[in-house]
Amino acid sequence: MRVLLVGSGGREHAVAVALARSPLLTGLFTAPGNPGTASLGTNVAIVADDVAHLVAFARAERIDLVVPGPEAPLVAGLADACAAAGIACAGPSAAAARLEGSKSFTKEICDEAGIPTARWERFTDAASARAFVRRRGAPIVIKADGLAAGKGVVVAQSVAEAEAAIADMMQDTSRGGAGASVIEECLEGEEVSLFAFCDGTDAVLIGAAQDHKRIGEGDTGPNTGGMGAISPPPGFGPEAQERALELLVRPALAVLARRGTPFRGVIFAGLMLTTQGPKLIEYNVRFGDPEAQALLLRLESDLLAALLALCGGRLAESGLRFSAQASIAVVLAGRGYPGQPATGGAITGIEAAEAIAGVRVFQAATVLDAAGVLRGSGGRVLSVCATADTLADARDAAYAGVARIEWSDGIWRRDIGVRALGRATS
Ligand code: AMP
Ligand code: GLY
Repeated sequence: MRVLLVGSGGREHAVAVALARSPLLTGLFTAPGNPGTASLGTNVAIVADDVAHLVAFARAERIDLVVPGPEAPLVAGLADACAAAGIACAGPSAAAARLEGSKSFTKEICDEAGIPTARWERFTDAASARAFVRRRGAPIVIKADGLAAGKGVVVAQSVAEAEAAIADMMQDTSRGGAGASVIEECLEGEEVSLFAFCDGTDAVLIGAAQDHKRIGEGDTGPNTGGMGAISPPPGFGPEAQERALELLVRPALAVLARRGTPFRGVIFAGLMLTTQGPKLIEYNVRFGDPEAQALLLRLESDLLAALLALCGGRLAESGLRFSAQASIAVVLAGRGYPGQPATGGAITGIEAAEAIAGVRVFQAATVLDAAGVLRGSGGRVLSVCATADTLADARDAAYAGVARIEWSDGIWRRDIGVRALGRATS
């Protein structure tokens, strides 16, 4: 099997490592990839959302399976273009990818499927949105209705903050949705993410994780793409995950299938564990980053076989197996991230970190210079991950790994998993 993996983050490096273990793999290409994926196959200089060039490459190189990492190419129709070219793609069509691309689409699907979620309303003019917020009061959540790369959501603690968000989002059409917004009830509880493979009708659990989105320790400062993840979150084990899959994911898949736009790929459901049970916050149509790194470290079976089964509607036969271990991912970013990161600093110590039992380091924004020195080249640069029998042991191993990395530009949170461990023992 010749596989084209799309993306260049730590998530894609982790997927590449899992694919490379498959006896079915005969060729791995990653577009555009990073030095981590280059060590496992061939990097191809095509950016991740250039659908036309990706498909042209896949045809020319007789690719059997395209594996998309990020959402942008899916929303832009990568799976549809692959289908038209007769190439399997382990990701949803643009129509099904609207689950991530459009907040109001997701809410409509939830309502049709009877999925518990925050009460909501959609607005296309700022005056009605402001009037609604004044009536409802704070806290309240304002979302730009379009693909906004995680930046289009404001959890407003006051009416003034909500009004400022409305002014910002509804006049700035670059945030998507032609200035529309979804305003919804603020859910309270522990936030967790659930991942499953879907083959159009069936869904098989991958596992659950908890992201650490803020840049600062103690969950402070600006939001990032994710500074660390643990899996599973304490108190949200396999049985609770299965129940959440049945309650919050399978009904949405049934609605999509009924509408003639079945979902094939990885679904990532963001949930709030409220006192009334789990409620859906959002769907993403892909693996999370860094959640994928933590989840895939526990994969015991063949990822490529599972993705092929997913494309063929045979997921139940795929024999997907994950270990019962706990895992953790600690992200190292360039100083300045999520603003302008420092770049160019030399990175050493990855091998030393990986010499620790259970530790694996995935690369994201890295480059190899002409002398073969690895350097940081962007925001999130490495994820140092570990698996062990307990979260506490996985955490100790990962931070021991971090201590062996030498990189003067690197910043990281020292408290990934700390709150969860507190909960687990309290
Ligand atoms: P999203 O872009 O939909 O992933 O939202 C980003 C983040 O905003 C989520 O991960 C939550 O932390 C928060 N959020 C979104 N919707 C709600 C809600 N209804 N109640 C509380 N927090 C929310
Ligand atoms: N870590 C969150 C995401 O990948 O969207």
